[in-house]
Amino acid sequence: MKNYYIETYGCQMNVADSELVASIMEENGYGKIDTVESADAVFLNTCAIREHAEEKIHSRLGVLRKEKEKRPHMILGLMGCMAQHVKDDILESKPYVDFVLGPDSYRRIPDILRRHEQKNESIVDTRLSRFEVYSGMYPSRNEGINAWISIMRGCDKFCTFCIVPFTRGRERSRSVKDIIQEVRRAVDDGFVEVTLLGQNVNSFRHRGERFPDLLQAVAEVSGVQRVRFTSPHPQDIDDDMLFVMRDNANLCKSIHLPLQAGSDRILKRMNRTYSQAEFLALVSRIRDLLPGCGLTTDIIVGFPGETREEFDETLQVMEKIKFDSAFTFKYSPRPGTKATEYSDHVSESEKQARLESLITVQKRHTLFRNRREISEIVKVMVEKESKKSSDVWAGRTDTNKWVLFAKKTTQVKQMVNVRITDAHGVTLFGELVSDPRRFHAVA
Ligand code: SAH
Ligand code: SF4
Ligand code: F3S
Repeated sequence: MKNYYIETYGCQMNVADSELVASIMEENGYGKIDTVESADAVFLNTCAIREHAEEKIHSRLGVLRKEKEKRPHMILGLMGCMAQHVKDDILESKPYVDFVLGPDSYRRIPDILRRHEQKNESIVDTRLSRFEVYSGMYPSRNEGINAWISIMRGCDKFCTFCIVPFTRGRERSRSVKDIIQEVRRAVDDGFVEVTLLGQNVNSFRHRGERFPDLLQAVAEVSGVQRVRFTSPHPQDIDDDMLFVMRDNANLCKSIHLPLQAGSDRILKRMNRTYSQAEFLALVSRIRDLLPGCGLTTDIIVGFPGETREEFDETLQVMEKIKFDSAFTFKYSPRPGTKATEYSDHVSESEKQARLESLITVQKRHTLFRNRREISEIVKVMVEKESKKSSDVWAGRTDTNKWVLFAKKTTQVKQMVNVRITDAHGVTLFGELVSDPRRFHAVA
């Protein structure tokens, strides 16, 4: 039997896609293996979101080239967003790459494997599709608590800094029926949580059914203890979505709400489609309807033309909202996107200084939010052993925070009640309260 090995970079969409490719390989007679050294086929599922993501792949390819020199029959495939972005250009500097596959090409992998066997030449397949949503295919999932369920693909928002609309193509959604079938099967396979995925998850729309309809349908699947989703766009969040979240106990009260920047002029240049005031109003609405809802964000510093004063506005918005946590990035020019054409780029040292001050502020806010949970009793899903001790579990709260607590007699996949006793860094610490068996399988 032949073996395949996949290494995944980038976001959860790529994790889900790797699981899909895994199932395609397994159906074609390949077994999964977790080392490069004895793999017959090696895939890198790549990301192109920032320059650094692409640099990592270039250096990884350098290492894999040596492996291929040792074992020339090894197939080396590049897939995902960077593959889509670089297309056949990569073959000029790296002719030893056998396949370059964009995110809409995975269904053709069996055919590509056959063609490669016959001709032994490099194959580039980066046709984007308006329709491909990989319906009717069931991913070969990594074991665990959570099943990633891709519900829509592509992005039509065209934020001026972002490569995703070019690497993932136009927006399209799966049918509710197809998604629900996959959720049911994931539950049958032992998953207790599902995370609905899309670059713009809440612009899901299929034959008149919208994201709140889908959320409601997923919440009703029996055995689904927790439902999460990522990433929503602020523009597409409406009261219907918040009502459905409020009215279903198994829809986790946590929303990733990318702010990107605080200044109206920069938001406009980013084509984010909301103003600072609109974003703040949305946060108030969320907190009114879903008290205690976790709020996390993405922020970019040093977007072209961002002045020191405009950056300060980002800090001011953060101060008003105090997110539970934030992913923070230095702007990275992506060839082909509109923002690269703007002339007034911010220097690297200034970007670095802004990033550092933003991280300092966010650390303070994370601690502020987490310390407010001390002495509260929260529902926690037992997920895995903590890295520090075999007597301690790590689990997540509804609001998507990690909590460490002594195991006692509890088991993985059990929902337990934990009293929060302390908060350090990004982690909460707690203790089990009452007999945890009572809370088993609470939806
Ligand atoms: N679809 C998601 C974002 C996916 S990319 C959404 O709209 O929320 C994840 C994050 O990477 C973005 O939110 C943004 O903060 C960051 N990002 C995207 N392009 C970037 C670039 N060119 N430079 C720096 N950060 C970038
Ligand atoms: Fe990129 Fe904007 Fe689309 Fe998110 S919404 S994937 S940031 S273009
Ligand atoms: Fe990267 Fe593509 Fe995701 S560019 S962040 S892997 S959608």
